Parts: sequence; structure tokens; C-alpha cells
Amino acid sequence: MTRPLSSRTQNIAASLTVTIDTLAKQMIAEGKDVVSLGAGEPDFPTPEPIREAACKAINEGKTRYTAPVGILDLRKAVCEKLELENGLHYAPEQIIMTSGAKHAVFNALAAIINPGDEVIVPAPYWVTYPELVKWLGGTPVIVQGSREQDFKITAEQLKNACTDKTKAILINNPCNPTGAVYSREELEALTKVIVEKDLYCISDEVYEYFVYDREFVSTASFDGMAERTIIVNGFSKSYCMTGWRIGYDAAPAAIAKIIGKIQGQAVHHPSNVAQYAAIGALKMGRESVAPMREAFRKRRDYMIERTSAVLTTPAKSPDGAFYLFAPVSDFYGKSTPEGKVIEDSIGLCQYLLEKEGLAIVPGAAFGDDTCVRFSYAADDATLTKACDRFERALKGLRCST
Ligand SMILES: Cc1ncc(COP(=O)(O)O)c(C=O)c1O
Repeated sequence: MTRPLSSRTQNIAASLTVTIDTLAKQMIAEGKDVVSLGAGEPDFPTPEPIREAACKAINEGKTRYTAPVGILDLRKAVCEKLELENGLHYAPEQIIMTSGAKHAVFNALAAIINPGDEVIVPAPYWVTYPELVKWLGGTPVIVQGSREQDFKITAEQLKNACTDKTKAILINNPCNPTGAVYSREELEALTKVIVEKDLYCISDEVYEYFVYDREFVSTASFDGMAERTIIVNGFSKSYCMTGWRIGYDAAPAAIAKIIGKIQGQAVHHPSNVAQYAAIGALKMGRESVAPMREAFRKRRDYMIERTSAVLTTPAKSPDGAFYLFAPVSDFYGKSTPEGKVIEDSIGLCQYLLEKEGLAIVPGAAFGDDTCVRFSYAADDATLTKACDRFERALKGLRCST
């Protein structure tokens, strides 16, 4: 065949987090000793009540098509969750169940972007955002949240980044990869600009249950925001359901209708069984994940302690999610024992994987080449091994001559 493939698709990069996770899994399958902190995937099993809800659904024959937007009981349960936990009022027609939160981000962008529209993406960002914006014909406008400002962007920065083409902003709170959590005041200031500039907001809240000693506030709860916000959420992280592929969009009614149409044509609906499992999860509720949150908090503290012992610029303790975004640029310019100079976060991660069998993700994948991302959603023994390897590898670097 000589006819060209989709030019839009040629513009987008593969997800580096998925690539690294796949490579690590392949190395393990080949019998190599690899420790992977690459994937953002809770190591706990899906809780029993959720598995039971799924088995019951299968046994009761809930194995046929559902409505494109998902089953009504589940959408009602999502509304109850939003009301109870977030103080937000949604009707079931505003909820679209999706095949995971990634799919919900796609739906949201597909519903609002026209070719040439600019979408503001605060960096460091989740790898998927800029690529999906590009794929849909939009232009991602990256606004950098520096380490000095805890990787968060300010209202002033947002204002300065807006042009007459700006259509929307993607807010990820708590943030993957930095774990940054916006305070109520910071979000209030940002949302004032969003309303003033008449932007849509896609608010990705998948890590809302993993916030340490801070409050979580939904972006949609501020004045003038519900009518312009598409909330993205899911069950992968909160309820250890990564492989079930279930999430949702909660949107203003007109947008929800469009998303329902897109979904009906593209995938029809997420798995019927996964939807029943999600009802089981929502019955468990936020407080059921408290032990997992506490486990993550301890692991976070351990990671901070161990990495601080070896990093020249210690990482700041993240307030949310289960990632540590550690500054490593002090090591750039140094040589590996084999004489290779480390030039950037990709080079450092390659060295860690080849030398020590440690898989972590280069900050470059998230729009900040000065850092690397560890996922600490792994058991204590794995974290200890990973930290030992990280320490040994960094201590093995030499000043280049
Ligand atoms: C910020 C963010 N949003 C969405 C997702 C996608 O989650 P899901 O497994 O529900 O598609 C992830 C997964 O890593 C994420 O980090």
C-alpha cells in the first residue's frame, strides 16, 4: 500500500509511561531482574465486594449491551457520590460511563475541540493530555508550573497564556506526575480567570481519594464553573480497578449529550460487567480506601527519606496521588561507569534500567526534563529494592572530564 495513513496520528507520540511499563514487563518475562516503579497502578487487589458484584452480574446474565452512556443505576450512584462527597448537583443525564478515565478525557476533548483551538495544559502534565489535544486537531499550550511553585500554575500565568483561540484548560488535581494538590484559594483564583475568559475546563480528578493532610476541592464547585466543567473520574486508582476499564465524564447537559453521541458511535458503552462492579465500588465509598491512603502515605515518606539521602536537591513531599517527582538534573553531565555521559532524564532512566534493572519514567515525558517519576504504588519490599538500586546507580556516576 502506498496511500498515506492518518497524518494526525503521525503527529502524536506513544505514551512513554506505557512504553516503559511494557519494556519492563518484557524484560521480566525474559527472566531479567527488573524492579518497575513505572506504572501508576495500585498494587492492592480489587476489593472483594467489587469482585462479588461483578460475579453476581455475570451470573445474572448482565452480559448484553447497555445504553451508550451506561446503566441508569450506576449513573444515579455517581450522582449520589458527587453530591455527598463533592457537594455537586448532577442529574443522571449528565453522567457518561466510559472505558476508563483516559477514555473520559478523550470524550471531553472530542466534544469541545475544533481544529486550531488552543487548550492550556499546565506542566508537568499527564503524558496523554497534549497528545490527545493534538490528535483532535487542537494545539496544546504548555504553561510551566516550576518546582519553586510546587509545580502548580498561577492565575497570572493562566491569564497570560490565554489568546483569542484559547478554548479550554485541562486541570489535573491531584497531579500525575508531581502529586501537587491545589488549595481552595489557588483554585478559586484560577477559576476566576477561567470564567472571565469564558473557557471550558476539563477537571481530571482521578486521584481525589489520595490527598494527604489537605482538603480536596473539585474545580466544578466554584462560582460559574459547573456550567463549563467536564469532570473526569474513574475507578482504576481509587478502587484498584485498572484492568476493568471503567470511568466517567460528568458534564453540563448539552456537552453530555454530545459525549453520549460520540461514545455511541465509537465504543457503544463500557463493559456491562465493569459497570456493575463500579456500582459495588460506589457502595463501598470514599472511606473504604482510607487504609490504602495510609499505606501510600507511609510509602511516600519512605521514598522521600531514601531519595533525599542520595539526591543533591531533595524532592518535595507530594500532597497527593502516589508519585514522587524527583529532581535529578544535578546528575546531568556525569558519566556512567561505562563512560557514557548522562545528558537528560531519558538518558538517566536508560542507565537505571540497563545498569540496575530499575524502571522509572523520565520527566521529559511529562514536560519537565529536570525530574524523574517514581510510582510508589508498590509493596514495601519492592520500594526498598528500587531505592537501593537508585542509590547505587547514582553513586556510580562520575564527574566527566
Ligand atoms: C491523571 C490521570 N488521568 C487519567 C488516567 C487514566 O486512568 P484510567 O485507568 O481510568 O483510564 C490516569 C492513569 O494513569 C492518570 O494518571
